[in-house]
Amino acid sequence: MTGTLKIGTLISGGGTNLQAIIDACAAGTIDADIQFTGSDIPGVKGLERAASAGIDTFVVDYAKIFLRAREQGLDTALPKDFDLEEILSKQRLVNPETDRKKAEFFIKTRAIAERALLDRIAAYDMDLLVLAGFMRVLTPYFIDRINTSPGEYRIMNIHPALLPAFPGTDGYGDTFRYGCKIGGCTVHFIDYGEDTGPIIGQKAFEIKAGDTLDDVKKNGLEKEWELYPACIQRFAQGL
Ligand code: GRF
Repeated sequence: MTGTLKIGTLISGGGTNLQAIIDACAAGTIDADIQFTGSDIPGVKGLERAASAGIDTFVVDYAKIFLRAREQGLDTALPKDFDLEEILSKQRLVNPETDRKKAEFFIKTRAIAERALLDRIAAYDMDLLVLAGFMRVLTPYFIDRINTSPGEYRIMNIHPALLPAFPGTDGYGDTFRYGCKIGGCTVHFIDYGEDTGPIIGQKAFEIKAGDTLDDVKKNGLEKEWELYPACIQRFAQGL
């Protein structure tokens, strides 16, 4: 990579990781420029953080898109270049063998929203897409349209657990409830599974007797704010 890395960011919530990345860019500890911040939920705090930093923002309202697509009929709403069999065979998010109908519904609704997301992202020049608390899985329909060079990953994610332990939506909760004495966070590339892509970096912290779930989340987030900018900088340096 030569020159400043152009990153796009996607969020769903408070955006404290986004803030850490904005601050690291401003401080020059990451050689990157944030081109946009997109959210699947309107009105979240992270959008405010981006706007305050002068970053373009947009919302692709997944809930509204799902609703409209169901009214319209999923097959009518599907992107023209969507190939159900191709996406179903590549993805590792749902098992079409156990419930084919459910799997089709899941993949089709996601692809419809992902088309809208791709249309917004297309307005920007981007080297790397950074998921900073974006709480939606991505199907191969989306991933293949971002990862356009074979073998090169261009989507990064931060997960609130030490993968491969505790994938899914509640990493700190699962770590805490299991009784782990060590928690942590992981930055990884996105592949066709849920939280299964190649690991870029991890940070761990001790869970002491008497710590509550809130303590675990607080300690974890502090590690995330260090880890994510460091991993993005490694990517910017071509490492
Ligand atoms: C973080 O814990 C991240 O690991 C998870 O969602 C949370 C987002 O927090 N994917 P924030 O929006 O960056 O504050």
